[in-house]
Amino acid sequence: MFKTIIEPFRIKEVEPIRLSTPEERTDLISEAGFNVFALRSENVIIDLLTDSGTGAMSSAQWAGIMRGDESYAGSPSFYRFQDAVRDVMGFEHVIPTHQGRAAERILFSVMCKAGDVVPNNSHFDTTRANVEFRGAKALDLPCEELADPDSDFPFKGNMDVGLLEQTLAEPGRARVPLAMLTVTNNSGGGQPVSMANARAVAEVCRRHDVPFYLDACRIAENAYLIKQRETGYAHKSVARIVREMCDLADGCTMSAKKDAIVNIGGFLATRDSAVARQEKDLLILTEGFPTYGGLAGRDLEAIAVGMYEGLDEDYLHYRITSTRYLGDHLRRAGVPIMWPPGGHAIYLDARRFAPHLAPSDFPGVSMTVELYTVGGVRGVEIGSLMLGSRDAETGEEKPAARELVRLAIPRRVYTQSHIDYVIEVVTRVHEHREELRAYRIVEQAPFLRHFSARLEPVGSASASAR
Ligand code: F0G
Repeated sequence: MFKTIIEPFRIKEVEPIRLSTPEERTDLISEAGFNVFALRSENVIIDLLTDSGTGAMSSAQWAGIMRGDESYAGSPSFYRFQDAVRDVMGFEHVIPTHQGRAAERILFSVMCKAGDVVPNNSHFDTTRANVEFRGAKALDLPCEELADPDSDFPFKGNMDVGLLEQTLAEPGRARVPLAMLTVTNNSGGGQPVSMANARAVAEVCRRHDVPFYLDACRIAENAYLIKQRETGYAHKSVARIVREMCDLADGCTMSAKKDAIVNIGGFLATRDSAVARQEKDLLILTEGFPTYGGLAGRDLEAIAVGMYEGLDEDYLHYRITSTRYLGDHLRRAGVPIMWPPGGHAIYLDARRFAPHLAPSDFPGVSMTVELYTVGGVRGVEIGSLMLGSRDAETGEEKPAARELVRLAIPRRVYTQSHIDYVIEVVTRVHEHREELRAYRIVEQAPFLRHFSARLEPVGSASASAR
């Protein structure tokens, strides 16, 4: 064996990257209200904002795109998509949606009512927003090991099964319409969930007669990490591990923009025909007929191919190793990160990176601004801007449990030299960390405020002019 792990693909089409200067970027980020979501992507050098919908499709997927059949009803593209999802995951009813959050909205509309409680290891922001929009409570029950960002514990994405048991005893089954596991746990540092934990969660749910769902968008990466880290799985294929986890569940939501490596698409799946019927009724209202669900036939073809490509072990080996490479190098340079590295991203720990800033100073925002200005690298804050909230009456900021900056790695897009550049940029910002400034929000929306908020540095000229 050789020690160099190569990208297991060749590149046959390229997209130029415009190399902007730090001076240009200083102006651009200020015009963007210090919010990286407001930047134009052509002004970004390495875009690690998300791994969602940003992957490079394969030649087989592009061939699928050409084969797409755009019939309104009964398209063969739908049947190829449905066959692929059934084959990989084993769920009987498969409902296409334009992306993961549409699947979430339909699922919670059908299953939840006001006053309900939905437990999850950690809700992703859109999942939380969709639960709350229904008037229900989104309850995060991460395992206690997640609190220590430095330990080697291999499955910090796990749910605290004791707390789940308590939740099902009080408030009780009548108010808990379903429980969910997010694999991997994106808001909790991209950490994997072990099969043992999924099995324990499924068992508690079954005993209380509560449906158990997976938020499955990164289930292939989670399965690869199980294969690497969990006793008894080294010799099982990733496809088998994925199926074993799905076999524990009653259904799933899936953003296919992650592990199915497509630019748009998702689905909702269940074993329950009565639930599926209600979901399809809602689907027709807002997404489309059940054989396309807001997608083009060509998109369904790309998902059908991507469902299998995401399970390819040479690809997963390269992907997980390259994420690990970024994590290892940053840690070695003394940069505090969520340890161990997960599948799709490295999470910088902003509390330890900038200990002079309080959560209400938005240290993660400050870091995203610097990473962009210094090197044109776009990461995303997953901290008090994204997951905290402002009390409508007192105006007081409620901080998030963690202050993280996520560097998410698009699938099959960047090579090792791009990652080496990112290591240099992050290390440079870390060397100058005392200069990181506090930020405050000047404009925000009532839901999912991180997408559109405008901020300013505390003590800036514009702030003092107010
Ligand atoms: N669940 C998880 C765990 C996610 O990470 C996402 C999206 C969704 C659901 C929603 O799916 O975007 O297709 O509607 N995560 C992206 C991210 C946006 O950057 O992590 P979607």
